[in-house]
Amino acid sequence: MQDRFGREITYLRLSVTELCNLRCRYCMPEDGVCKKAHAEMLAEDEMISAVRAAAELGVTKLRVTGGEPLVKRNIVSICRRAAEIPGIREVCLTTNGTLLPQLAAPLRDADVKRLNISLDTLDKQKYHYITRRGELSEALEGLEAALSAGFERIKINAVLIGGFNDDEIPALAGLTRKYPVDMRFIELMPMYDSGDFGAKALVPCDAVLAALPGLQPQPDDGGVAKLYRLPGAQGNVGLIRPVSAHFCAACSRLRLTADGKIKPCLHSPLEYSIKGLDEAGMRAQFERAILEKPARHAELSAAHRSESGRNMNQIGG
Ligand code: GTP
Ligand code: 5AD
Ligand code: SF4
Repeated sequence: MQDRFGREITYLRLSVTELCNLRCRYCMPEDGVCKKAHAEMLAEDEMISAVRAAAELGVTKLRVTGGEPLVKRNIVSICRRAAEIPGIREVCLTTNGTLLPQLAAPLRDADVKRLNISLDTLDKQKYHYITRRGELSEALEGLEAALSAGFERIKINAVLIGGFNDDEIPALAGLTRKYPVDMRFIELMPMYDSGDFGAKALVPCDAVLAALPGLQPQPDDGGVAKLYRLPGAQGNVGLIRPVSAHFCAACSRLRLTADGKIKPCLHSPLEYSIKGLDEAGMRAQFERAILEKPARHAELSAAHRSESGRNMNQIGG
């Protein structure tokens, strides 16, 4: 289905939980989330009905997100059932990777096609700092497990943070020589109350082009990243620039939060609830959300935070 601006909506991001085993500073507060009542959150069957309703309206791609989707007890079942829905061509998942040693193979068996793994630094101390508790070795073991499990194309996401990891651009991009993966740098988006990053932390992705003069432009793959490649690399370097060059004109996405709100735009406060509705009711809410999807999001800067009213873990990125 098309929105008012002629954008075909084909991609749903389904957040299955707000909870996470890490606490990345740009994503969620230190004390985690105040756990919402179970009854407020979507049940597995409601998630599946919602994906079916979205598929009837033309959604072909589902990306499962969180919080951290792999802390959800029934994650393999959700993915398997979603992948069986007529019209859904691919189920993908975004994860911090730390639970992949146990879950990579079951997820692949459940027909999850692609994984995106978050990894902001290759330094043990810095990893512990940015995640407020994580062990770098667990994320790297997760990456290795994903590579062994045979996913189609693995992408690594690093949020680019001035004064934190902008000195690691060559090392992170170097992962595309070591492994058959894409390495993507994402501009830090100032969310509701996620971290106290000042203007200095908001580094545009031009810093990646400056640090890697050998990058060769690559054809677009229809995603949000502009693609490049290092000579001799096995995968691309991607730049995701929601702050310096927003990509709203080509946006094909809707989001469904773990508490059952359709968000037609990551940075808008507009939400449409589907909690407790039957599939026809959910479908009507998806139609409204598509027809009311904003043309673009407002400016993002240190002085002008996202208008979403949620932190990233409560949206799913
Ligand atoms: P694929 O294209 O399927 O690989 O996935 P993706 O890049 O859409 O998903 P991923 O979960 O890896 O997200 C990467 C980053 O892009 C995250 O920081 C998202 O918040 C950001 N992103 C994805 N979609 C949008 C969008 O519509 N608007 C903005 N501003 N950022 C987005
Ligand atoms: N700005 C940019 N990217 C973010 N992510 C989480 N919070 C932010 C933010 N404030 C990224 C995660 C993950 C992806 C889904 O979103 O690192 O890779
Ligand atoms: Fe957890 Fe991902 Fe948010 Fe980090 S970015 S706290 S890993 S949900």
